[in-house]
Amino acid sequence: MRQHISTATLAQISATVGTPTYVYHAPTFVRQFQQLTQAFSGFQHTIFYACKALTNINIIKLLYSAGANIDCSSINEAKLALHAGCHPSRVLYTSNGISFQEITEAVELGVHVNIDSLNNLKKFGEKFGASRPIGIRLRPNIMAGGNLKISTGHDKSKFGIPVTQLPEILAIAHQYQLNITTLHVHTGSEIKDVQVTVKALEILLDLLPQFPDVKHIDLGGGFKVPYSPTDGETNLQELGNALAQTLETYSSKGFPTPKLWFEPGKYMVSEAGYLLTQVAVMKQTDTICFASVNSGLNHLIRPMFYDAYHHISNISNPSGPKKTYTIVGNICETDTFASDRELPEIQEGDLLLFHNAGAYGFEMASNFNSRFKPAEVLVFEDETFAMIRRADVWDDLLRNQIAVL
Ligand code: LLP
Repeated sequence: MRQHISTATLAQISATVGTPTYVYHAPTFVRQFQQLTQAFSGFQHTIFYACKALTNINIIKLLYSAGANIDCSSINEAKLALHAGCHPSRVLYTSNGISFQEITEAVELGVHVNIDSLNNLKKFGEKFGASRPIGIRLRPNIMAGGNLKISTGHDKSKFGIPVTQLPEILAIAHQYQLNITTLHVHTGSEIKDVQVTVKALEILLDLLPQFPDVKHIDLGGGFKVPYSPTDGETNLQELGNALAQTLETYSSKGFPTPKLWFEPGKYMVSEAGYLLTQVAVMKQTDTICFASVNSGLNHLIRPMFYDAYHHISNISNPSGPKKTYTIVGNICETDTFASDRELPEIQEGDLLLFHNAGAYGFEMASNFNSRFKPAEVLVFEDETFAMIRRADVWDDLLRNQIAVL
């Protein structure tokens, strides 16, 4: 796996900021965005970075100034995007399971909202009628994505309004003369098969004649990135060509071509991020050699939560003899990062680097076991770096506790 930041810089970060620390490579974020833009250059499109993957305001700013719009999944993410300086017209809130009050708040912030329930659609009609454009999140009943936990478009999923409820959607739209400008689907994360996205587009194109105001088809995110040296990835060029072809076939029948929207999270930020840790203690048992790092599932939950593979490098001893280790954390739960992993010989104090930690790494971190959340550091093209979030300190653990006894 490619290491975008030199070992010397990582060692310097360890010495000055400490470990564990999330470390991000600025040029890689921008490169990922540009690769998407390039792959989709055959049709009109807008990329909304799904900032749920990594909400540090510096990363939002970096991608926004590179040209990406921002997709949010909570009112606070929408507020963070605006705080980072994004114009509301370039911010999208794809909601799920929220109260109408939160939708009202988002509308009042001026951001575009995709609604995902009939009840909220009706309430939107009652309050706003045709006065504000709106998007509808549909559930296409397609099974897609790397595993069930990250599959969102299937027929048992909570997300979106099932396409089978189209008559109800149309009745509400008609009753309140809604100005529905976007149809949205997001079928899952880590979708390698380009045909899944093409199918989603076809389903929405088929619906378009019934939604005369729709200008954008939002296909969500979910592009697969490789987590291991043998892992596959979405072939974006193939996807771009297939989507262009589908749009062309559609418009050749005389229909106006909608603009496509995308909401990639992982693709934009996964590869740019690393979790830099240090080996706290080695433990040789009768069958297993454990290397325990000064981090745990409280900082990177993906291996335990999704059985996700994260590539690990021993940057302190890259050319040492290979041995087999189980890499664990220090949390009082089983928090195995990797089992039976071959790595160059590890000693206490070595720096272990977890790759592909940019997406849903820091963002899913917690203070479990009352441990501190780590710092975040942004490394620039010339390998200078800046801390963009300090690690927690003792006061952070007590900040919101109210002593009543
Ligand atoms: N749009 C919507 C409406 C979403 O729900 C998501 C992700 C995305 C876009 C971005 O998907 P991406 O391009 O990042 O795959 N924590 C899990 C991934 C959960 C994704 C949730 N929704 C993980 O670490 O694998």
